[in-house]
Amino acid sequence: MSSPSAVGTVDPDVVPSAKRPDPTRSPHPPTWALEVCQAVTGTVFVAFVLFHMLGNLKVYIGADDFNHYAAWLRTLFNPLVPGDGVLWILRVVLVLCLILHVYGAITLYCRARIARGGHGRKLLANRIGARTMIWTGLILLLFIIFHILDLTLGVQPMATSHFVHGDAYQNLIYSFQRPAVAIFYCLAIALLAVHLSHGVWSLISDFGGTGSRLRSLFFIIAGLVAIVLLLGDISIPIAVQIGFLTL
Ligand code: HEM
Repeated sequence: MSSPSAVGTVDPDVVPSAKRPDPTRSPHPPTWALEVCQAVTGTVFVAFVLFHMLGNLKVYIGADDFNHYAAWLRTLFNPLVPGDGVLWILRVVLVLCLILHVYGAITLYCRARIARGGHGRKLLANRIGARTMIWTGLILLLFIIFHILDLTLGVQPMATSHFVHGDAYQNLIYSFQRPAVAIFYCLAIALLAVHLSHGVWSLISDFGGTGSRLRSLFFIIAGLVAIVLLLGDISIPIAVQIGFLTL
């Protein structure tokens, strides 16, 4: 139902026409610009999570390799860029992308709802799984905050009392030995896989691609990226829980 009923109750999905934007005025920023921004920032995140997952898998080689990798990230391009400058540049880029991505997602979602009421929401939902994207995205945001407090900053109670700055391997093992935390990581990574599969698939529409072959190709790429990420990352908390990875 998408119109006020005869008995006077109002469907919450329907936006009164007075609140609808004037169709003669184009919104600011334009919707196409927001979609391109979502696609560019989303691509940065996909690159980051894949790179991060490859680095995380070094945990299977051993504590020294894993800790060297973490230290290597901090000293990237030394002495050209002193100290952990490159890591900080990456952090700033990621935070800027995150702000733009969240702003873009919420603005596009609200715009589609206001522009077409219940119908608009359905159209957008069909196209990029918008409702799922908003909720998985917001939960992932909470996960990232928890994750940084846990493994980067060592803030208790998110981190364990054994946290030692610079000993990434030990911090990870102690953290994932907590069953609730291991389950939380598994669920978050599963949500990330859902979010990424929708996101990578919608890249093609955001960049203006329309061909059915191209869409099928992106559908396959989206599935592969999601599965690789899911298996690679989820294996780590599970390996710690079953005692395969230990101190
Ligand atoms: C089992 C999966 C994961 C493991 C084992 C893992 C491991 C780690 C470790 C050890 C660090 C700290 C590095 C250091 O400070 O030396 C870290 C940082 C980080 N991780 Fe993960 N991570 C996982 C999944 C994820 C996911 C799914 C995301 C994103 C959605 C993510 C985003 C980040 C971010 C943003 C940082 C902070 C980087 C920095 O500023 O130093 N991680 N991760």
